[in-house]
Amino acid sequence: MKVISLIGQKGGAGKSTVARVLASAAVLEGKRVLMLDCDPNKSTYSFYQKLMRNDPTSAESVTAFHCANTEEMERHIIEADETGNIDYCIIDTQGDLVNWVDDVIELSNRVIIPVKVSETDFTVQLETYKRYVALRDAVVDPSKLPPIMFLLNQIKPGVKYPASLRDLFDEIASHDRMLRFYLQERNVYNQTDQGILLGEYAKRVEATSVGKVMPKYMTQAMDEAKELLTAVEEVTVNG
Ligand SMILES: Nc1ncnc2c1ncn2[C@@H]1O[C@H](COP(=O)(O)OP(=O)(O)OP(=O)(O)O)[C@@H](O)[C@H]1O
Ligand SMILES: [Mg+2]
Repeated sequence: MKVISLIGQKGGAGKSTVARVLASAAVLEGKRVLMLDCDPNKSTYSFYQKLMRNDPTSAESVTAFHCANTEEMERHIIEADETGNIDYCIIDTQGDLVNWVDDVIELSNRVIIPVKVSETDFTVQLETYKRYVALRDAVVDPSKLPPIMFLLNQIKPGVKYPASLRDLFDEIASHDRMLRFYLQERNVYNQTDQGILLGEYAKRVEATSVGKVMPKYMTQAMDEAKELLTAVEEVTVNG
């Protein structure tokens, strides 16, 4: 089982959205997913409750728990590992660096810090990254820590950033821990919040579209989700 966590002290950077996109990608690949939500706002856990009602087919491939502390999180991870039928564990955390974020990092195989193109977002998320750097300096064997990566999120292709943001974009994009893949802004990613994963959403859109053809934006969203999962897994160097 691979554990992928989403962290970052910048609220609204996209942790919960990316968690659903990654879960969608895994389910599209026929994998089973455990989602652990340690955010007191329970956005991922309530997504899962809606999923169980709206999308029972996907809910068969996904389970989720809300965790109040890292002991609970670790227990779910150990249990899932023991049963051996979960492929991915996706951990969603709160938009704040609580003291147990170090534990979340140590429990993970990959750590993602989503970042939007905005001065404040990047500055704040760099602080998140520093937390990882401090942990790396503190642990006995830093090579056991998972790779960490920034993920540029909510990019609008074709939209020209104002000059003031272009230099910032270049600075963010060239950070050596930046994933060489960005996630676009897509309404369908946002819609998954209603309790549906991308695969099932696509089927429903297809069934109601003229001539029952899959709209291109749906195919692109599913392809992008799968490419993101692959890109995250391919990163092996820890920063
Ligand atoms: N790639 C995306 N495409 C479209 N909308 C997005 C995308 N990423 C994030 N959003 C939007 O940004 C909002 C905030 O995202 P999200 O809730 O995932 O952030 P978060 O980091 O989990 O926030 P919090 O810290 O409050 O938990 C979402 O409601 C959604 O509208
Ligand atoms: Mg969230």
